[in-house]
Amino acid sequence: MRPMAAILRAVRADITTLAVDAIVNAANTTLLGGGGVDGAIHRAAGPGLLAECRALGGCRTGDAKLTSGHRLRARYVIHTVGPVWHGGRLREPALLASCYRRSIEVAGAAGVRTLAFPSIATGVYGYPVEQAARVALATVREALAAHPSIEEVVFCCFSASDLAVYEGLLA
Ligand code: AR6
Repeated sequence: MRPMAAILRAVRADITTLAVDAIVNAANTTLLGGGGVDGAIHRAAGPGLLAECRALGGCRTGDAKLTSGHRLRARYVIHTVGPVWHGGRLREPALLASCYRRSIEVAGAAGVRTLAFPSIATGVYGYPVEQAARVALATVREALAAHPSIEEVVFCCFSASDLAVYEGLLA
């Protein structure tokens, strides 16, 4: 029997509150914390997360690395590094797609069934949200085909306007 297709949905929430197997962090190449969703995740997870991140030796743009969730409800955090937006001619779409693809690969390898993504690169890094959401949805749909053990992917939006963009594209 073919496995059921994974559920894709968008919610408006603080990603640190979600009871999923793994949440994705929009980090920077140092993996040593920052502002935005990265800062919120480190605050909620506690100092053990930073200690674990120090041992990872950073992360390249477009790659993803796994840690424990520490004090979060999520068992794991998958740290990925989005591209800084420079107008779209410096491979930003390919690098953003790589963030989503590598995060799905890391999640699948860890046995994750439910996963939540923030809107990677669309805050401090300046990637236009609708263009980013199109990349996110297309890449996740494609990557899930190779990882049928993942049952649900949540696109966790921080603003009502981001949620409207995702809901429009998911409809
Ligand atoms: N839950 C869900 N989404 C959130 C939360 C939250 N608690 N807080 C912010 N967002 P950003 P980037 C949204 O700037 O653009 C950091 O300093 C936010 O509204 O966090 O990839 C890192 O260390 C936006 O929609 O990440 C890097 O240096 C989205 O998360 C740099 O920022 C991403 O915004 C990465 O920049």
